[in-house]
Amino acid sequence: MDVEETEPLLDLHPAPADLEAEALRGLSAEPKTLPCKLFYDEKGSELFESICEQPEYYLTRVETAILRDSLSEIAAVLGPRVQLIEPGSGAGTKTRLLLDALDDLVSYVPIDISREHLLGVAESLRRDYPGLQVQAVCADFQQTIPAPEPDRPARRRVVFFPGSTIGNFTADEARAFLERMAEVAGPGGGILLGFDRRKDPQALIAAYDDAAGVTAEFNRNLLQRLNLDVGTDFVLERFTHEARWNEAVQRIEMHLVSTTNQAVQLGEHTIAFAEGESILTECCHKYGPEGVAGLTDRFRWVQTWTDADERFGIQFLETV
Ligand code: AVI
Repeated sequence: MDVEETEPLLDLHPAPADLEAEALRGLSAEPKTLPCKLFYDEKGSELFESICEQPEYYLTRVETAILRDSLSEIAAVLGPRVQLIEPGSGAGTKTRLLLDALDDLVSYVPIDISREHLLGVAESLRRDYPGLQVQAVCADFQQTIPAPEPDRPARRRVVFFPGSTIGNFTADEARAFLERMAEVAGPGGGILLGFDRRKDPQALIAAYDDAAGVTAEFNRNLLQRLNLDVGTDFVLERFTHEARWNEAVQRIEMHLVSTTNQAVQLGEHTIAFAEGESILTECCHKYGPEGVAGLTDRFRWVQTWTDADERFGIQFLETV
């Protein structure tokens, strides 16, 4: 059966981003940057899945273990009859753990920019959770998203934002995101989010520069994507992947460093690279024990769960 017949998908899909304009903006800046959201074409999404399985990339494993170990406590703190809203939803292991644990869940609202991905998620959840109302919303979670009304009244709305994705935002972006999510969750609602903790920079660098070279391939795939989708002529072998710890702003930065003086064609523009010049492709901010509580007064801290080595945190913040 066509899933859209079961429950229509709320389509707020923004106009497709102008990749060429975005790439030109970033590569004309000083220093050069490219937005990390461009990583996730089909190949990039596969590579990200593979990163999550690398021994050095502890984040996914540790967060899942915290969730598993703390599930009944988390379910008790969130309480019954929640409408669960997940921006950038995956409907993977973490989501399913929560869906299984929450008491009398009213509906699940996956939000994703990819219509195809969303339809797949909705279909598999409707198959595996026949009684659950799935209210898929096709939108960029950077835009303001109205939470759809569920069939049964919810006691509260809770946004689920695992994976340390909050770490890919600067402090200002994280604050703006949290404030938008406070609007989505509304009075009495909250956000359950995962954040990566500060630790020995060597362990962090290893997590973002695994021995098998998967993260390096993921980073360089961004150039391949631009070659395919924009028609640039990047020679991938002329850029090396580097993960750097930026102590001043407590973040890992992923760079693509030009190994030579070279020029790359982007539409009508020629982008010159000096040997050693880099493109900043991603920032991964690491937090102290307080996580993102305190970035905004739209939420108040309720509880944080962590692992024995305090590598990662999951926290619940309530709207005020
Ligand atoms: C998606 N995001 C939380 C990942 C991170 O750890 O910041 C992306 C990633 N980049 C390299 N490895 C993983």
